[in-house]
Amino acid sequence: MTTHSLLLLAGDGIGIETMRETRRIIDWFQQKRDLKFNIEEGLVGGSSYDAHGTPLTDETLAQAQQSGAVLFGAVGGVKWDDLPFHLKPEQGLLRLRKEMQLFANLRPATVFDALVDASSLKPHLVRGLDILIVRELTGGVYFGQPRGIEMLPDGQQRGVNTQVYTTNEIVRVARAAFDLAKKRGNKVCSVEKSNVMESGALWRKVVQAVHDAEYPEVELSHMYADNCAMQLVRNPKQFDVIVTDNLFGDLLSDCAAMLTGSLGMLPSASLGAPDETGKRKALYEPVHGSAPDIAGKNVANPLATIMSFAMCLRYSFGLIPEADLLEKAVKDVLSRGFRTADIMQDDMQKVSTSEMGDVLLKALEALAFGEF
Ligand code: IPM
Ligand code: MG
Repeated sequence: MTTHSLLLLAGDGIGIETMRETRRIIDWFQQKRDLKFNIEEGLVGGSSYDAHGTPLTDETLAQAQQSGAVLFGAVGGVKWDDLPFHLKPEQGLLRLRKEMQLFANLRPATVFDALVDASSLKPHLVRGLDILIVRELTGGVYFGQPRGIEMLPDGQQRGVNTQVYTTNEIVRVARAAFDLAKKRGNKVCSVEKSNVMESGALWRKVVQAVHDAEYPEVELSHMYADNCAMQLVRNPKQFDVIVTDNLFGDLLSDCAAMLTGSLGMLPSASLGAPDETGKRKALYEPVHGSAPDIAGKNVANPLATIMSFAMCLRYSFGLIPEADLLEKAVKDVLSRGFRTADIMQDDMQKVSTSEMGDVLLKALEALAFGEF
């Protein structure tokens, strides 16, 4: 039996609750499906700051580098809002992304049939929606130098961030997007602001060149980021794979997420380059944040973290039947009417975070062994 090593970093806020339910699911797979995970747990974000004075310790980073995959909850909260930038909870996540070189962030936005009405868009616009945003994750304005806040001689302050991309950074994320598109709808839309930004002009040129040289069979289009935001709410089904930079990807993926009716449903994967054996470093996390307003109340939707684990089974561990089973169980509980508060609809049964875990475990049992 292969042992898959997995580092669980629940983080802060609802990350702790959604990870707790995910852990029950992982344990089910260990007990019932003959899988063995070597599980470690660590602190990240505000909880790490409280315990160690830093949002990510070197030890936890080293554990993450060595593990087969990292499953991440969420970080942040009002409690830590006034900390200096380098100590903020978010820095724990950003450092993991940067140091593990997780440059390709896959953010699927799929609409479950049972949730079509939960979308803020008209049902016919979103029914069957299945798009994938590939967000560049280790470059751009998030990490560009120079950055900082400086004092000017006249007493004003000046805040600076730098949007910067090199050819290679664009090439590798473009390849990731084209490779993924080939396994889906074979269409890539590359998004930037080449009309106003040099980094955007380079982005467009390089993506086109990668396409022409290596992926001529994939349909490629280019779009300005503002237009893309508009098109996402006008006619989202025109897209298959969207590839874009770190900041635009952050914005557009929240927008795409909302098309599905709930941020609480969406998983993501952040992948590095393959090593000699073909294995990629990987971190899986829900697209939603730590939601301090509902933290600790047992009302958060655990499905995005659970679906992130499904992505982990699929992409890092190659356990396709298990990933399929878990995704099927999620569809099953939704079609049987179970809803956490964020996706609650008329005539449905409202469940708490832990009750969602309960019904999902039952659905897994039923699907795997035909029992109720
Ligand atoms: C995301 C989040 C993060 C980001 C924050 C928490 C640093 O919004 O993963 O989309 O801006 O990348
Ligand atoms: Mg975001």
